[in-house]
Amino acid sequence: MKISVIGTGYVGLVTGVCFAELGNEVICVDVDKEMVDKINSSITTIYEDGLEEMLKKHMTRGNLRATTDLREAVEKTDVSFISVGTPSGLMDYIDLKYVEKVTRDIGKILKDKEGYHLMVVKSTVVPGTTEHSVLPILERYSGKKAGKGFGVAMNPEFLREGKAIEDFMNPDRIVIGGIDEKSTDILLELYKDFKCQIMKTNPKTAEMIKYATNSFLATKISFINDIGNICKQLDIDAYEVAKGMGMDSRISPKFLNPGIGFGGSCFPKDVKAIVGKAKEVYYKPAILNAALELNELQPLKLIELLERNIGFLKGVDITILGLAFKPGTDDMREAPSIKIITSLLMKGARVHATDPKALNEARKIFGEHERLKLYDDPMEAVKKSKYIMIVTEWDEFKREELYKGKVVIDGRRVDEAKVAEYYEGVCW
Ligand code: UDX
Ligand code: UDX
Repeated sequence: MKISVIGTGYVGLVTGVCFAELGNEVICVDVDKEMVDKINSSITTIYEDGLEEMLKKHMTRGNLRATTDLREAVEKTDVSFISVGTPSGLMDYIDLKYVEKVTRDIGKILKDKEGYHLMVVKSTVVPGTTEHSVLPILERYSGKKAGKGFGVAMNPEFLREGKAIEDFMNPDRIVIGGIDEKSTDILLELYKDFKCQIMKTNPKTAEMIKYATNSFLATKISFINDIGNICKQLDIDAYEVAKGMGMDSRISPKFLNPGIGFGGSCFPKDVKAIVGKAKEVYYKPAILNAALELNELQPLKLIELLERNIGFLKGVDITILGLAFKPGTDDMREAPSIKIITSLLMKGARVHATDPKALNEARKIFGEHERLKLYDDPMEAVKKSKYIMIVTEWDEFKREELYKGKVVIDGRRVDEAKVAEYYEGVCW
């Protein structure tokens, strides 16, 4: 199939490259020329295992390319996926300005385009966006009727950073929210070789499935952290508790790792967005609000524990192992490390931080700070202080020699750190 993907961030680039891998002809579009040039030089703009090789393969094969020319891409393809950013806006409500702008631009292009075209929303958008924002904008700017001149569908992604290609190629399910049979059938054809369940529904249900899924996973993490905080007071190992819980098939062991909470470009933003949407319909989601509230405070428990051990942190050298919001990515969006380092610097500590992939992101976020030093080599970072906080469970930190003779506060359960002179876990 001839496909265009608009917005080549995390989701768009992985989606475009994987559709090319499945034999489709793909044109990726982005407003950012530098990003487009990199992609056309087979350089990925994000760190994702296996993505650069796959990009190179299809650039060479010629069934994938990138452009800033939206008109050319839409005219030369039959299906367009919208995967531009949907960041948090005012008061954490979702900000749909990029989705609406791209939709207006595509509407204007469809006005002149011969034949039928399918628009697919892949960006995470609050329920009602596809039918009550995207569709009417397309009709207004194209002068065509939805269902006749063009089709519309919502097809959420469930990609985890670090495992995005695997999640795209082997999903648990594919959700298709088409406005009509024709729109749905085209996507069924596109996904015909996938072995997983394919759920056909309407756009707003598809949108809500995405939010409910992310909100449930985020709540599951806050739940086990809530239990973990109780365990901590009762001197019980929350990981043992999670293990026993996870044996219950109604619970499953997945996403039951207690620690310093969830970060990333999705969970915080998406839970806040659906809470905002609920407010619009005069409903206050008690559990989701509690999940967010607990997650806000959870990273700072690392600092509380260290202060309980050594008192004031002013002038103290502290090593932070891990900056990315999780292993396997260079992404620091809503990373717990940001809250922890900001608080340590405010308390007057000297911070020595390291991460295998996210140092460039950290430089962008923190800029120059006289009491913040970044290190490529974790060994160099731990040499600078007696006190270590484990913030991201990279394999690179699972080495006992990093911890000998140290005081370690562990936020992500790295058992090798137990050789330390003093070791304490946030929930164990
Ligand atoms: C995005 C959404 O933020 C997320 O909610 C959704 O689930 C998936 O897509 P991500 O891929 O991480 O997530 O977004 P981001 O990294 O912000 O990339 C968006 C891309 O769209 C950027 O490269 C940006 O340059 C591009 N863009 C944005 C356009 O090409 N045109 C625009 O008008 C706006
Ligand atoms: C998530 C969803 O998993 C994915 O389906 C969706 O499309 C986008 O959002 P991602 O943000 O890449 O993916 O990260 P994920 O692996 O889900 O982890 C999210 C956060 O939760 C990380 O900060 C991680 O450290 C934390 N986490 C995860 C826990 O604290 N405990 C767990 O048991 C699992």
